[in-house]
Amino acid sequence: MKRLDGKTALITGSARGIGLAFAGAYVREGARVALADIDFARAKEAAGEIGGAAFAVEMDVTDQGSIDAAVAETVSNAGDIDILINNAAVFSAAPIAEIEREDFERVMAINVSGTLFTMQAVAKHMIERGKGGKIINMASQAGRRGEALVSVYCASKAAVISLTQSAGLNLIAHGINVNAIAPGVVEGEHWDGVDAFFAKYENKPRGQKRREVGEAVPFGRMGQAEDLTGMAIFLASDEADYIVAQTYNVDGGNWMS
Ligand SMILES: NC(=O)c1ccc[n+]([C@@H]2O[C@H](COP(=O)([O-])OP(=O)(O)OC[C@H]3O[C@@H](n4cnc5c(N)ncnc54)[C@H](O)[C@@H]3O)[C@@H](O)[C@H]2O)c1
Repeated sequence: MKRLDGKTALITGSARGIGLAFAGAYVREGARVALADIDFARAKEAAGEIGGAAFAVEMDVTDQGSIDAAVAETVSNAGDIDILINNAAVFSAAPIAEIEREDFERVMAINVSGTLFTMQAVAKHMIERGKGGKIINMASQAGRRGEALVSVYCASKAAVISLTQSAGLNLIAHGINVNAIAPGVVEGEHWDGVDAFFAKYENKPRGQKRREVGEAVPFGRMGQAEDLTGMAIFLASDEADYIVAQTYNVDGGNWMS
């Protein structure tokens, strides 16, 4: 018996990176998985590579109509949603004096409003069907403390941790467990952008920041997306029924809380 046999998961931002690794791991554990992403072409390609139990759904988490349509499409394809991972997010960095209102609003719309209103749409479905469910929000070590050049992203991930606490306390009354994962630094295309920001603001050659953060991890290297899949499977499984409103660090020892 696989740990997610018979379950259906909706994973936002899963056309690449960590979300894609979660999708593959969930399918291997027996789940049907909707790979929901604004990059629909890439989500389709990724779902095709994973195989049978994976399917792509077009979704922009900043658009309520798109959220509702993605939830409805997943339910109509798979019959149900048992697990949601709110994974879609964007990174941004700038010194306080250079933050642009437009960029702040874009990051908050994806990372915070996207998480809240996708969680709301799926929670409504889960409440209505009356069988509980599991919701996992992707936080970050960036949500645990501020960083001089990363105010907006850090604030967005602190908000994700706080939303996880409030939603966790509210939704457990319906048998819905809401928890979060806080990764540290994880290899992938996301880091191309992060590295470019630091090259600009810390005046470093490209690639240097990436090397430095990897060397600083107590485990001795940057994380790989696969380092996070164990926690994502556990939090989605029946073994996590008594876990409510928590954020777990999976970061090679970067942060303790
Ligand atoms: N990579 C890291 O070092 C790291 C560290 C801590 C936390 N995280 C968090 O983990 C999660 C995954 O990170 P990643 O590195 O795989 O990111 P990534 O940038 O590789 O992937 C993000 C995905 O989200 C999608 N997306 C962006 N905007 C969207 C929107 N409006 N609607 C739907 N989809 C949208 C993108 O198309 C992309 O496929 C994010 O929440 C991120 O903040 C990552």
